[in-house]
Amino acid sequence: MNAQTDLVSPQDAPQEPLANRPAAAQPDSDHAQFVDWMRSVAPYIHAFRNKTFVVGFGGEVVHQGLLNALVSDVALLQAMGIQIVLVHGSRPQVEEQMSLHGVNSEFSHGMRITDARALESAKEAAGEVRLDIEAAISQGLPNTPMAHAHISVVSGNFVTARPVGILDGVDFAHTGLVRKIDAESIRHSLASRKIVLLSPLGFSPTGEAFNLSMEDVASAAAIALRADKIIFLTETAGILDESGDLVREMSLDEAYRLNDSGEIKGDAAFYLKHAVRACRGGVPRAHLIPYSLDGSLLLELFLHDGVGTMISYENLESLREATPDDVGGILTLIEPLESDGTLVKRGRHQIERDIDHFSVIEHDGVLFGCAALYPYPQERIGEMACLTIAPDAQGQGDGERLLKRIEQRARARGLTRIFVLTTRTEHWFLKRGFMKASVDDLPEDRRRLYNWQRKSLVLMKQL
Ligand SMILES: CC(C)(COP(=O)(O)OP(=O)(O)OC[C@H]1O[C@@H](n2cnc3c(N)ncnc32)[C@H](O)[C@@H]1OP(=O)(O)O)[C@@H](O)C(=O)NCCC(=O)NCCS
Repeated sequence: MNAQTDLVSPQDAPQEPLANRPAAAQPDSDHAQFVDWMRSVAPYIHAFRNKTFVVGFGGEVVHQGLLNALVSDVALLQAMGIQIVLVHGSRPQVEEQMSLHGVNSEFSHGMRITDARALESAKEAAGEVRLDIEAAISQGLPNTPMAHAHISVVSGNFVTARPVGILDGVDFAHTGLVRKIDAESIRHSLASRKIVLLSPLGFSPTGEAFNLSMEDVASAAAIALRADKIIFLTETAGILDESGDLVREMSLDEAYRLNDSGEIKGDAAFYLKHAVRACRGGVPRAHLIPYSLDGSLLLELFLHDGVGTMISYENLESLREATPDDVGGILTLIEPLESDGTLVKRGRHQIERDIDHFSVIEHDGVLFGCAALYPYPQERIGEMACLTIAPDAQGQGDGERLLKRIEQRARARGLTRIFVLTTRTEHWFLKRGFMKASVDDLPEDRRRLYNWQRKSLVLMKQL
């Protein structure tokens, strides 16, 4: 944002009436791009206001000098009315403290064994990282994204812990697990516009301290707060498939199976486990994004396709593939739109024949949305057709959920692009990553069937 423009007071601002403005008032292409961008993020700003996001990150973010950039992005989110809980780790700092004190690290079952000396290092490390974060949040330097940001941060004894105990004969001593999160006190702080900062330490009701994992604290906090999102900033790009490509979206079911399969190893597996835990506990979305990419938090939240992996808790009963029993429900949905010319007419026979192509959204046994994917495997392209949401259910994001499902189905079939033909819904698709294309871009078989009288626009999206 141009800070100088921002400082012009209303009475100093030029008072030219809009109609009298010369043609030069048209924005140049850079400005137009900015305005388009700003408008494109507006729906997210509306949607995220008053939502609660839990953001977990390892001590590596601090260690590698990336803290200030992250804190600026968090400050921006807070200014938009998002309630933020930050959960930090401190692994590299604990290692540092332990080597300073000449204490050896010991691990078992993928966890640190925290004896009394290791606990002292863990406390010192967590204290150091917490202070660094509080300092970064408190700075309001002019000419930085933190200018004019007056943000309060609160940390406290919000986490009750219990010992891991003895596993297979190994005593984990002061290594603990979250027993309870004081959600009420955290909510109270969030409601008074404070950022809540949680450290990977917890205390038992007897006052004993325990060394916890950042991921455990973050997922337990997200569940207890009924957060809208949990976001882990990770050292990997997100979840990668066998060919090393980023998996952009997974349903909770898919993430659960992948987590169970043991195919994902190392830190990514730990993040995935806690993302699945949070979603199963009722958090609708979990994101794994790379901390090394500058602005990854903003890119993930405000770009339609994001930059990491998003795991969504879907009510699996509500969004599913169609069965022959759904033909009647689909016809009821699309017939009014066929009659008014929004959709091309398809008879019952055609829907019955193509039922495997459809995905539907159902609530209490009633269909209120559908869409179909017609693949052209040779050209690695698919057509999304019949996208419909019942009029009284529109505007709640279900059109978008169906689009995502069709994109998932297309990717699973190895398609690289999808297209739609539309006469009235151009802007809805453009806003969701489709670009204008021409009839010549259609697969040959589809091009031959194109109805030149209908003059539908061709919109294409790269997957
Ligand atoms: C297009 C359609 C599927 C969207 O479903 P939905 O569940 O309402 O969509 P979402 O909730 O994900 O998005 C709602 C947003 O899309 C906008 N929108 C709805 N119809 C639109 C249209 N024809 N053109 C541009 N934007 C549209 C809404 O105004 C709303 O905007 P907002 O978030 O800024 O308030 C639904 O409106 C519909 O069934 N329309 C009639 C059938 C149709 O046109 N299908 C496409 C055939 S190619």
